[in-house]
Amino acid sequence: MEGQPSSFVSQSQNDLSGSGSKKSVSLAIDPKNQQTQIEGMYPSKIMPEITDLRSAKNLSHDSVNISQSENPESIHKFWGSQPILLNSNNELSELNSPIIQDSIAIREQPFTLSSSFEWSELDLTLDCEIQELYELLCENYVEDDDHMFRFAYSKQFLIWALKPPGWLSEFHCGVRVKTSHKLVAFISAVPAQIFVKGKLKQMVEINFLCVHEKLRNKRVAPVLIREITRRVNLKGIFQAVFTSGAKLPNRPVAVCRYWHRSLNPKKLIEVEFSYLTRNMTLQRALKLYKLPEKPITPGLRKFKLSDSKAVCDGLNLYLSRFELCPKFTETDISHWLTPHEGIIYSWVVQPTPSEPITDMISFYSIPSSVIRHPKHKHLYTAYLFYYFTTRTLFQDLLYDALILAKSNNFDVFNALDIMENKSVLEDLKFGMGDGNLQYFFYNWCCENIATDNVGLVLQ
Ligand SMILES: CC(C)(COP(=O)(O)OP(=O)(O)OC[C@H]1O[C@@H](n2cnc3c(N)ncnc32)[C@H](O)[C@@H]1OP(=O)(O)O)[C@@H](O)C(=O)NCCC(=O)NCCS
Repeated sequence: MEGQPSSFVSQSQNDLSGSGSKKSVSLAIDPKNQQTQIEGMYPSKIMPEITDLRSAKNLSHDSVNISQSENPESIHKFWGSQPILLNSNNELSELNSPIIQDSIAIREQPFTLSSSFEWSELDLTLDCEIQELYELLCENYVEDDDHMFRFAYSKQFLIWALKPPGWLSEFHCGVRVKTSHKLVAFISAVPAQIFVKGKLKQMVEINFLCVHEKLRNKRVAPVLIREITRRVNLKGIFQAVFTSGAKLPNRPVAVCRYWHRSLNPKKLIEVEFSYLTRNMTLQRALKLYKLPEKPITPGLRKFKLSDSKAVCDGLNLYLSRFELCPKFTETDISHWLTPHEGIIYSWVVQPTPSEPITDMISFYSIPSSVIRHPKHKHLYTAYLFYYFTTRTLFQDLLYDALILAKSNNFDVFNALDIMENKSVLEDLKFGMGDGNLQYFFYNWCCENIATDNVGLVLQ
């Protein structure tokens, strides 16, 4: 796909020392039975390009309100030129189809950077390059609105998230200062088979869009997005899915909400992630959120590599009920679900060794830095990942996941209101956050998908 040449303002290496971020979303828990309030940042992510919606049908979307003008494309100089649905468009092109066709001319040369910078394909087999990415993200990735917490993805997590089956180093797209070689911006893509309303599409998932704080508001993000799109297109892939907590001009296909379950109320209060409301004491909060030491479901055990086939079949079958979901291979399952301390935690239910696996649940770990706190440096957060049930009640399975997260020293457990989650969150003492996580497609025209029809979880 051809796009206009892009550039951004030069910046000397000496200017690139700060940290911090401007884009963020804040969530505040507001449980019905109001015991505590939790403020949490929440995950946002991104992906590449499109749009020109000429033909179409009406579609209303009530989820995102972005101020619009008569000519929004002139405001959103970048996204207005891309094959995406814009909030300001009331029309859709042909439903459940690409917005532009695959037979586009793909630019052969990388997009132009300002003369002080150069493209750099990160080699994530090298510890030094993983370290550089880790540092860029630790210092510049998503923060909450009050700049109290910032994601601190571990190096091992980054390897897990960025090197699933089919990964390509071309899709680990960095920008460096030419003179110093300092990594100052990054965007990634990983291939994924995605079902949308019954259609299976080869897509990429876009993630870890990050521009160094000192290079913000200089139109670096559009260059990164165009470049990753070009590289993805060169591999014959023309659709992408991404999530963001920040409001974008793009029309989301689904708007989801994070919920938080306190596991370590004392620490959450100390770091001001949550606070005691009237009539609530610390003692009462500790009692309210107390969990048993051991899981309850008989036959629950850690996922093993040899479970991959059975879990792949069980999970694909379970996910097929949702309008938006991935399709996994056995190799994908081995990668995504084999347990690794500090990255991914997965359990299956197998009533006896001679019986088949009946259920599975998993969560992953993303710590956050607690910025400028005298005592606590990190907040340990578990995120509900994939699961399926055939025999165990989902509520019981998720309760066990909370117990296991607590026993693995997580402070809080986050879950989106996707899949079947919503039906059990309140009973399990999750509180609703006040920020959205929006799902977007690139070059795919699709009507809204209800949150309980979303079966896709991105990191
Ligand atoms: C997100 C981030 C890369 C944007 O960079 P920036 O310097 O603020 O923005 P730029 O000046 O380079 O570009 C602005 C354009 O990018 C778009 N943009 C901004 N954030 C975006 C996002 N998260 N996803 C997609 N597009 C985004 C804007 O809509 C704008 O395009 P438009 O003019 O068509 O509306 C940067 O703020 C950052 O690194 N933030 C911390 C990490 C983060 O939030 N990452 C995103 C996770 S979803």
